[in-house]
Amino acid sequence: MTLTDAPTYNPFDAAFQADPYPAYRQLRDHDPVHRHEQEGAPAFWALSRFDDIWNAVRDSANFSSEQGLTFYPDEIGQLGLAPTIVMLDPPRHTKLRSLIAKGFTPHRVMSMEPLIREFVRSRIDLIETKARAGEQVDLHQDFSTQIPTFVLAELFDIPESDRMQFDPWVTALTALQDSGFDIQALGAQHAVAEMFGYFGELITARRAAPGEDMISALTQAELEGERLTDWDILGFCFVLVAGGNDTTGNLISHGVMLLDGDHAQRERLVAEPDLIPNALVEFLRLESSVQGLARTTLRPVRIGDVEIPEGEKVMMLYGSANRDEREYGESADRLDITRQFPRHLAFSSGVHFCIGSHLARLQARLAFEELLARQPHIGVDLSGSQRLNSAFTRGWVHLPATGIR
Ligand code: HEM
Repeated sequence: MTLTDAPTYNPFDAAFQADPYPAYRQLRDHDPVHRHEQEGAPAFWALSRFDDIWNAVRDSANFSSEQGLTFYPDEIGQLGLAPTIVMLDPPRHTKLRSLIAKGFTPHRVMSMEPLIREFVRSRIDLIETKARAGEQVDLHQDFSTQIPTFVLAELFDIPESDRMQFDPWVTALTALQDSGFDIQALGAQHAVAEMFGYFGELITARRAAPGEDMISALTQAELEGERLTDWDILGFCFVLVAGGNDTTGNLISHGVMLLDGDHAQRERLVAEPDLIPNALVEFLRLESSVQGLARTTLRPVRIGDVEIPEGEKVMMLYGSANRDEREYGESADRLDITRQFPRHLAFSSGVHFCIGSHLARLQARLAFEELLARQPHIGVDLSGSQRLNSAFTRGWVHLPATGIR
């Protein structure tokens, strides 16, 4: 390959987003501490090797989250975001995280299993009915995204009639990223204001009449002797809606897509559902819902031969790290539902390790247990699909289903 043929990392380009993996490999092999300069976009750095990212995200003393998680400068100020744990450093991060972590203990998460399974079954009923009536089933919209939306609404105890609003909010937040945080863009400003307005009213109502849900628990919680403010609680709502919905839906959709690319492994999973938990992590490794998020250097940091100055945005390309041959060997790009590996970065690592990882895996496990038992030939029609346009997350807008009988 000549240098001009080399696939290039360009997070804004639809061709890169369709298949980012050759460009990631190019970065890992030839430019692992990449300085990205592109007309019309802010300059930033990008790490692509597993070890470099693993070490950086576990070093919050040098790599801060407080300037936001994208490569845009001042995204927090521009968006008027409430402070969320994912954009805080220790020690405040540690304290806030300990409050929210109580809502996500493995025990608490597992107690939701019967409820989620019942919901998953009802969605399969629905897609079967649609398919049998000759209608096109959109796996992503009709099934995958519905599950995390349901779960979040349960956590927040939101009435059924209000639940449909979640997805447009998430779409608006994603659109916001793609428009360079032009908050006038694509009705995003309106959607964000609507979301904050909705949760603001909910917080007021739960302060007056607390229930058993997570928002009520947060209104009662104390940090260093003080109650959390509405603004703090809005930050939690924001991170759960923005971080928990799309990511989990895309894990489910990508899993169906990956199995459709290897029917022998799909059959094996149908025959041996005990392999599902292992397969899910392999899906996440190969098609990481979060492809990359940024940190900001708090002082000059040397990685290999390169020194990154203080105050620079550095993208952690999780999607690249998870396919690094240095970590996973020569078969890193191949699906292997039995693959055993001690570490991956789909949920990051260190202080910001995903708090919802148990919940995400529970939802995806139930989705695959039920779906493969009832529709063992389910696949996807990539020619009719539409990918999400995002420099940070990898996923779908539409993904038509095939093989439903
Ligand atoms: C497959 C699904 C999911 C993926 C791939 C995922 C991925 C991630 C990643 C990569 C981070 C670290 C962000 C960073 O590097 O700065 C993170 C943090 C977080 N995630 Fe998830 N997530 C998923 C599902 C969920 C769910 C279901 C919830 C909760 C309902 C959730 C809540 C959070 C929270 C609260 C944080 C911030 C933790 C902190 O800053 O201490 N996530 N997630």
